[in-house]
Amino acid sequence: MRTDVVRLGRLSGERTGEMMHFLSSMRSDRCIADADILVDLAHVLMLEKQKIIDRDIAKQLLSALLELFDEGIPEEVFDERFEDVHSGIESLLIESVGVDVGGRMHIGRSRNDEVATCIRIKLREDMLKQMSALLKVREVLVALAELHIDTMMPGFTHMQHAQPTTLAHHLLAYEQAFSRDFDRLKDTYVRVNQSPLGAAAFASTGYPINREYTASLLGFDGLVTNTMDAVATRDFALETLADLSILMATTSRLCEELIIWSTSFVKFVTLDDAFCSTSSIMPQKKNPDTAEIMRAKTGSVFGAFTGALLTVKGLPMSYNRDLQELTPHIWRGMRDAKESLRLLIDMLSSATFDTERMREEAGKGFSTATELADTLVRTYGLPFRTAHNIVGRAVQKGNLSLFTLEEAALEVGGGISLVAKGLTQQSIDEVLDVPYSIALRKAPGGPAPFAIRIAIGERKKQLDSDSFLIDQRLANLSRVKEDMIAKVRRLVV
Ligand code: ARG
Repeated sequence: MRTDVVRLGRLSGERTGEMMHFLSSMRSDRCIADADILVDLAHVLMLEKQKIIDRDIAKQLLSALLELFDEGIPEEVFDERFEDVHSGIESLLIESVGVDVGGRMHIGRSRNDEVATCIRIKLREDMLKQMSALLKVREVLVALAELHIDTMMPGFTHMQHAQPTTLAHHLLAYEQAFSRDFDRLKDTYVRVNQSPLGAAAFASTGYPINREYTASLLGFDGLVTNTMDAVATRDFALETLADLSILMATTSRLCEELIIWSTSFVKFVTLDDAFCSTSSIMPQKKNPDTAEIMRAKTGSVFGAFTGALLTVKGLPMSYNRDLQELTPHIWRGMRDAKESLRLLIDMLSSATFDTERMREEAGKGFSTATELADTLVRTYGLPFRTAHNIVGRAVQKGNLSLFTLEEAALEVGGGISLVAKGLTQQSIDEVLDVPYSIALRKAPGGPAPFAIRIAIGERKKQLDSDSFLIDQRLANLSRVKEDMIAKVRRLVV
């Protein structure tokens, strides 16, 4: 098969080995090879519909393409002596049906609009898969939260014991973050799913093409209208990589906590052995490697995002070959994020939480001191700052007994006597109780079991509607594809 069909008119001289390896996008084009067949099919259907090519030519082109669709693309197409998969497939067609037929497929288009279309087709599929994985992570978090509504644990700020909370509250915090990560991908999808096809090199074409037709055959929701923008922009990819980066930032925070929680001095969680490894020298070791790798993959996804961003920086209009170097960043970022999320689902659902240990820590570090200060405000009418100072001073003295609080009040409370106001040791003990402090925090989104039950109900509703959306989009994409293939099969018989 000739590997120089595109350049043989204008340029002479063989480019071999090292040069073609450097110039060809073939390795990364494997990701878009299937999409390229769909784009070719849609383009030829359109050329025939618009009477730009004869029905007979269209039939021959379509059956050759259909064969590739049914049988798979032969390995010879992926030869790096082709600049890319687009010229590989065109060359194969010319080889199999002759130049008089095969040489007409590229009428009215360019590899510039072709590649942009292929990337969007592959990317939207990946995005939906990623969103499905994200849904599963969220479902696991909500299911775990439901089991741990009453599991008390310390909440931290600055990594210091701060106030008691529940494991359910902690897990739902992550679910909420992942839910926004989901929303970002959902919103970006709308801009990814626009068709650049028909833009040709950048100035569209003089043939009476029908851009709306190819867009609808390929399941796009609309056009990237301006044809210069259509071939030049990769902002849809930047946006997706930004979404993935933020999502991985959430993932890395959760992983970091699982790593800390599984240390022998915290011991809040035991990760399933499958997600851990041991040491080649220290026989006792159980290391949370999967979570560590995820934490590191986060950096790789950020790298993919910055790599892509730096590739487009300062690029003049319209298509520049630099854009070819951006595409692998998309697939690398997507792959790392996808693999991480899929493992996260099982790592989370197989983890066991040591609820006793959590309970043990929940009240440490004077974690209910805020509630005591609030009680001084509510019951005895102190200004909050005064109450805060009194309790703070008592903590500095080392305990929250009535005696110490009274001393503290005399020192920093403007000389007031809490005893005279009616404070007793029993009422102090009551408000320092961990379950009491948690149960009081029942504002929307708070850790009180009452608020958590409401939150879980709401999250489940949101999960239902998010999963409905994904099912719809997936079903729509496969229906559109089946419709186009059926149309092609009808035409070629
Ligand atoms: N392999 C190219 C890419 O990924 C396809 C477009 C090539 N266009 C061109 N004018 N050389 O961007």
